Amino acid sequence: MAFSYRFSAFVGLLVVLNSCVIGEPKRRNVLLIIADDAGFESDVYNNTAIRTPHLRALARRSLVFRNAFTSVSSCSPSRAAILTGLPQHQSGMYGLHQDVHHFNSFDGVQSLPLLLGQAGIRTGIIGKKHVGPGAVYPFDFAYTEENSSVLQVGRNITRIKLLPQYGPFCERFGNGDSGMGRIPDWTPEHYSPEEVKVPYFIPDTPVSRADLAAQYTTISRLDQGIGLVLKELREAGFENDTLVIYSSDNGIPFPNGRTNLYWSGTAEPLLVSSPEHRQRWGQQSQAYVSLLDITPTILDWLSVPYPAHSLVGGGRGQRVELTGRSLLPALEAEPLWDTVFGSQSLHEVTMYYPMRAVHQGPYRLVHNLNYKMPFPIDQDFYVSPTFQDLLNRTQAGQPLSWFKTLQGYYYRSRWELYDSRADPTETRNLADDPAYAPVLEGLQSRLLKWQWVTSDPWVCGPDAVLETKLSPQCRPLFNGL
Ligand SMILES: *[C@@H]1O[C@H](CO)[C@@H](O)[C@H](O)[C@H]1NC(C)=O
Ligand SMILES: *[C@@H]1O[C@H](CO)[C@@H](O)[C@H](O)[C@H]1NC(C)=O
Ligand SMILES: *[C@@H]1O[C@H](CO)[C@@H](O)[C@H](O)[C@H]1NC(C)=O
Ligand SMILES: *[C@@H]1O[C@H](CO)[C@@H](O)[C@H](O)[C@H]1NC(C)=O
Ligand SMILES: *[C@@H]1O[C@H](CO)[C@@H](O)[C@H](O)[C@H]1NC(C)=O
Repeated sequence: MAFSYRFSAFVGLLVVLNSCVIGEPKRRNVLLIIADDAGFESDVYNNTAIRTPHLRALARRSLVFRNAFTSVSSCSPSRAAILTGLPQHQSGMYGLHQDVHHFNSFDGVQSLPLLLGQAGIRTGIIGKKHVGPGAVYPFDFAYTEENSSVLQVGRNITRIKLLPQYGPFCERFGNGDSGMGRIPDWTPEHYSPEEVKVPYFIPDTPVSRADLAAQYTTISRLDQGIGLVLKELREAGFENDTLVIYSSDNGIPFPNGRTNLYWSGTAEPLLVSSPEHRQRWGQQSQAYVSLLDITPTILDWLSVPYPAHSLVGGGRGQRVELTGRSLLPALEAEPLWDTVFGSQSLHEVTMYYPMRAVHQGPYRLVHNLNYKMPFPIDQDFYVSPTFQDLLNRTQAGQPLSWFKTLQGYYYRSRWELYDSRADPTETRNLADDPAYAPVLEGLQSRLLKWQWVTSDPWVCGPDAVLETKLSPQCRPLFNGL
């Protein structure tokens, strides 16, 4: 188990291209491409330091969303949310699926592959799956970490021993250097630490710049992979009947990114390309959309209804409602959608730190339920050069070149309220500012309502206990919070 972080680092970063091909031969198909740990490292999102010609080509045929968010900043919970339309607290996929973490969705969850299969539509998944149990995600075709050499690499200790040479982002794997093997279709793009763009939430140090440069190289593999898949699609004659969606699962694996419900942990690239909705191709949308919208979008595209059902255990008998919406109307006219929700409970099994969030217009509210605990750090992020550098500098009392201190990162307030107009980096907490009391209360009540609608077992925390015997209600604990 000592090597588990290397396993997840490898799965997480080598398999950057994950496509689910969902086919209905006669009329409409869907290709859903979910990158792993990717962010806005693309010229589509105005990062001119990196070249992503294939994503740019896709963007010319897509509506580009500028305010898309994952509901959860962790791989398996996010992939489960994408494939079920349910937040992690409702699907049961609370944390990572693989090895010791062992999280799974509830047995009764109605996932896309299940619903589409029942509708006679064939589904397949290639690349990282990272969700379970198998019966909840019954793809007709699967070539994932469960079959591919990635599993081998995770289990073969000789290879695990050799793993670090692939680099922290596995950016050297397959690049043709001695011992790296070759991926014939990949022409690696290299970047110097000086040329990368350092986002506001990452320390600007030589170490993190080198980390970012390595990450850019993996993005070139992703970008070229997307080009290959789209070429296959075109040559197979499906270009004009396939909805193509590109996004990523969570924030990038840097400080304040993955595992956080801040903007930097939840904002995602999102391109939606429909051959039947060309009026907005190449345009951008400001609408607030969620990866919880992907399931309703695909069901809408394929005209498959979402069945009435409840999840006993997870949902206490309450009827399951999708709180996301189909994105197809946005492909025709700019909608006025301004609210998205977030819900995180764990990443690795040891990382219990429940948070709930709502982002409405300029405001983001984060509720840190267990705010007296230090914010947890995951194993592969811990060993990343950027975090090691942060630890070393903090210990040595050297400048961090960061927008936070480690202490501030670890210890958070119960409520965090930010106004992105005046404070785009989310550093000035307004939750205690009396002038924002009405905003705070309004957001708290929206968040609470969403938690009830989605059967959130954490809805009463941390100062009360959820009592479900009669009608569900919060019973006070008198614990001083
Ligand atoms: C890129 O920058 C241009 C010019 O400032 C802006 O109009 C556009 O919205 C930006 N694109 C994205 C995706 O943020
Ligand atoms: C991959 O593994 C899964 C689970 O064992 C299996 O159902 C599937 O058929 C395998 N796929 C291939 C292409 O062998
Ligand atoms: C384990 O990995 C080593 C190094 O790549 C390789 O030589 C060996 O064949 C692998 N073992 C198995 C069982 O595949
Ligand atoms: C797809 O539609 C476009 C525009 O109608 C057309 O030019 C193109 O030939 C079509 N492609 C295929 C493969 O049918
Ligand atoms: C952090 O400090 C340790 C111990 O001095 C050292 O081995 C390591 O290379 C340093 N890492 C970074 C990224 O500075």
